[in-house]
Amino acid sequence: MSVQHSFAPVGSDPASFYAALNAELDAHLAGERDWLINLANASALLSLRLPELNWAGFYLLRGGALLLGPFQGKPACTRIKLGRGVCGTTAAKRETSVVPDVHAFPGHIACDPASASELVVPLLAGERLIGVLDLDSPRTGRFSEHDARGLEEFARRLVSGTDWPAWD
Ligand code: SME
Repeated sequence: MSVQHSFAPVGSDPASFYAALNAELDAHLAGERDWLINLANASALLSLRLPELNWAGFYLLRGGALLLGPFQGKPACTRIKLGRGVCGTTAAKRETSVVPDVHAFPGHIACDPASASELVVPLLAGERLIGVLDLDSPRTGRFSEHDARGLEEFARRLVSGTDWPAWD
C-alpha cells in the first residue's frame, strides 16, 4: 500500500492539523477494512502525530465490558466495566469526555501514573457502541475542544472504514 503523507506540522491551526491527520487516516484505511489492522495503524498514527501523549489506543466493547485493544504506550488495564473510569463513563454516556485533570475525575483508573489529562471518544456505528478511543497526556489541560471535534471526526472515519465483527 502506498500512503500519501500530507501532514500539517505541529503548530499549524487545529483545523489544518486535523484535516491532515484525518486525510492520513483515510490513506491507511483505503483498501483495508480489517478491524485489527485498522486499529493497530490508527493507534500508531495517533501516537506519531499528536504531541504530548503517553498513551493512545482503544478499548472495545466485548461481552458487556471494555476490553483492551490495540494501543501505543505502557501496558494498560485490561478490562473496564461500563460506567467506571473515564473510558467506562464515556461508553455509558456515548459522549466524548475531555478531562483536564484526571486526579479531579472521580473514579479515574490510573493505568500509567504519568497521565495527567485524558480525552476519550466513543466509537459509534449507528446505534452500536464499538468501544472507545482513549488518549492520555502527561500535561494537565492538554486536550481542547478542537482536539475533541477533530478526534470525533477521526473516530467517525475509522468506524465507517472498518468491518466490525459481532463479538458478543
Ligand atoms: N484512565 C482510563 C483507563 C485507561 S488508561 O488511561 C489507558 C480510565 O479512567 O478509564
